[in-house]
Amino acid sequence: MPLTRKAYRAAILHSIADPAEVGIEASYEYFEDGLLVVDNGQISALGHASELLASLPADIEITHYQDALITPGFIDTHIHLPQTGMVGAYGEQLLDWLNTYTFPCESQFADQSHAEEVAEIFIKELLRNGTTTALVFGSVHPQSVNAFFEAAEKLDLRMIAGKVMMDRNAPDYLTDTAESSYLESKALIERWHGKGRLHYAVTPRFAPTSTPEQLTLAGQLLSEYPDLYMQTHISENLQEVEWVKELFPERKGYLDVYDHYQLLGERSVFAHGVHLCDDECARLAQTGSAVAFCPTSNLFLGSGLFNLPMAEKHKLNVGLGTDVGGGTSFSLLQTLNEAYKVMQLQGARLSPFKSLYLATLGGARALRLEERIGTLQPGTDADFLVLDYNATPLLSYRLKQSKSIAETLFVLMTLGDDRTVAQTYAAGNLVHQR
Ligand code: GUN
Ligand code: ZN
Repeated sequence: MPLTRKAYRAAILHSIADPAEVGIEASYEYFEDGLLVVDNGQISALGHASELLASLPADIEITHYQDALITPGFIDTHIHLPQTGMVGAYGEQLLDWLNTYTFPCESQFADQSHAEEVAEIFIKELLRNGTTTALVFGSVHPQSVNAFFEAAEKLDLRMIAGKVMMDRNAPDYLTDTAESSYLESKALIERWHGKGRLHYAVTPRFAPTSTPEQLTLAGQLLSEYPDLYMQTHISENLQEVEWVKELFPERKGYLDVYDHYQLLGERSVFAHGVHLCDDECARLAQTGSAVAFCPTSNLFLGSGLFNLPMAEKHKLNVGLGTDVGGGTSFSLLQTLNEAYKVMQLQGARLSPFKSLYLATLGGARALRLEERIGTLQPGTDADFLVLDYNATPLLSYRLKQSKSIAETLFVLMTLGDDRTVAQTYAAGNLVHQR
């Protein structure tokens, strides 16, 4: 195959460490006039344009983006494909919201052509918003995952997804059985896990909708295949936490249910964790598990305020999740806007560099993919974005007053959304152009 080499010139910013560990200044690299070189879908060089240009052949194709910032692609560590059609459902908190809106909406995925149609819309929406990797809940139907992976494979995206397992406390039209969920998950794993840039996640919806038998089989799947992911929900809503105590009286608490069934580990991502206690954070950290912080959802469903400082104290891996359709936006910029406010309401600060970290390298670490995505380090996948400083008249005017990259970044996260994402590249291919 001939070498395809391209270079992109713009301001370039990426996170290289967690500000909580190394301090803000050592957590990022910024090139005011930077150059990103891409060879065959991977980043081969990153640096100051003035320095790198001299080392490159004179005829190299360079795309120069003015008034723009190149960053790594965003990573959404928690989102639901079959809830695309129900974003912004009025009036309920978690358990009533599931029964009233979510389950009926997800039932439509029994129809293969519906699943295919929504998968196309969903992936377009991810890319329009600059999300190049997501950890995705399908519906209970295997065809939801097949449709999603087929669409993702066509664009050579790095994506993770799984079929929901739920065999109780949900309508009959939407439940599987412990055995059928095991067999259907296994068939999907055999077909998709490790194919190109695709990975499979074993996906018990949450403790209340799985019998002990189903949770046992979820744990068994994880033991049967290397590098499988596990995704579920935890401690999102106080009524939910009480319900889990009633359903599993023999366990110490919510996390202990998952722990008992051997669902914790380095590729396990627990969505929300709003009401986790100190001991549970410690146990999650000890097992290398991660939590997906989903601020737009936690505010919209009235679930509560995620305690990021507590997670940091325990060195717990945290990624950012939109949680569409409980969340209200596909945009990780808008998600960070709300994350900032969630911290404000707790008397804490979220620096723009910590926010950048959460949306990129932090998410990659939560997914154990930091060798491949989340930064612009040479040798990693060329998944990156071009953010447009002139995306809206207000953004353009506001950024003209900016005195630093910190201020620019913060304003992008406050005023930015899908309009801010001018281009999205995945594996070096242009997969979205505004
Ligand atoms: N808990 C169990 N299922 C769901 C879901 O679909 N969305 C959210 N936000 N929480 C859940
Ligand atoms: Zn969710």
